[in-house]
Amino acid sequence: MKSPVSKETVSQETAYLYMGDRVEGMGLKPETIPCFLTTAFNMDNLEDVQQVYADHGYTYIRTRNPNRDALAEVITYLEQGEKSDIFSSGMGAITTTLMSLLQPGDQILCNRYIYGETFNVMDEVMSKLGVQVVYTGFEDLEEVRRAVTEKTRIIYTEVISNPTIRIADIERLAEISHGAGARLMVDNTFTTPFSIKPLTLGADIVVNSLTKYLNGHSDATGGAVTCREAELIDRIHHTAMLCGTPGDPFSSWLILRGLHTAALRIPRQIENAAALAHALEKNPQISGVNHPSLESHPQWELSYRLHPGGLGSPILSIYLPEDEGKISRFMDRLHFAKYAPTLGGIRTSLSHPVTSSHPNVPDNIRRAMGITPGMLRISVGTENPEDLIRDFEQAMEVF
Ligand SMILES: Cc1ncc(COP(=O)(O)O)c(C=O)c1O
Repeated sequence: MKSPVSKETVSQETAYLYMGDRVEGMGLKPETIPCFLTTAFNMDNLEDVQQVYADHGYTYIRTRNPNRDALAEVITYLEQGEKSDIFSSGMGAITTTLMSLLQPGDQILCNRYIYGETFNVMDEVMSKLGVQVVYTGFEDLEEVRRAVTEKTRIIYTEVISNPTIRIADIERLAEISHGAGARLMVDNTFTTPFSIKPLTLGADIVVNSLTKYLNGHSDATGGAVTCREAELIDRIHHTAMLCGTPGDPFSSWLILRGLHTAALRIPRQIENAAALAHALEKNPQISGVNHPSLESHPQWELSYRLHPGGLGSPILSIYLPEDEGKISRFMDRLHFAKYAPTLGGIRTSLSHPVTSSHPNVPDNIRRAMGITPGMLRISVGTENPEDLIRDFEQAMEVF
């Protein structure tokens, strides 16, 4: 232990630098975890240095940080995995994991309907690393089985697709993956561990963008990867540390704070989404509504097989008449749901996939994917559902 600085024997410009960084007994018991905004942790002498490194203790921010560890512990529990790692964003989590586990010549078998930027990582980043990416629609499991080769190392999907809300059969996909000696990697962002825990259904790796529902307050970016094998996380963590993709302490702190109310928010958001989906389905101007709670959903039975109460999600999508002017007026008339190029906040937001996530996809291909110029994707918040339904209904009067 170092002796304290003597204020009498050193100059002010030195002395004040060595004050205010310690409070009595750092072993305080704060009611909630403080934010460890420090790039490094001091070590007293070389023995201490050796001990800290031998114990994999806290050294440098990019290697380990208490706020990331605290958040990882909670995510691991929620996803029922062995270990998690925390990243600067959902994309950081996805890219680092793929880069850690794949080598040139390996193959990823990827659901065709995934988040646009994950698709771009597959196409632009993985291909540069010599990893081949093969796409199929995961609704047809026979097609998935046929596409597997001896080079397939990862089968990649989201639990429900954006924006068409198609459900991936995690149980069967896990069987196919393991039969082929591959790992199933699942993005749980749209469903969250409050709705489904893919690791318990056979998945090997789960990714969450913490920027969305798990934080829930639209004020921080982060990502998490959780695995059933702790050793995989150690490998992924090593790559993260080298590539600089770990999350920063303040975002991790904010996300953990947000996560503490997720058990109150997310089930309410899921219920609200189901209520809004059922109400909008009755509107004659809306030609279709996609939500797993609807009996009209083509995979309604799968939704109930994956979850006893039906798979939940705070996301739905609707098909309005294809009149751009009227869609704009409809958006103007909504009091609550604002256009936002994100999702997952406590306030309802919406996006227009043709102009946001799929602008570069040719119209005929988009339509084949179920994405039309009249489609809106809605992320439902915690508002009173009656208020939301009334607001959407009054805005629908423009059609
Ligand atoms: C399903 C899904 N996965 C991953 C991401 C990426 O997350 P982030 O923006 O935190 O990098 C997003 C972002 O919208 C997403 O929708």
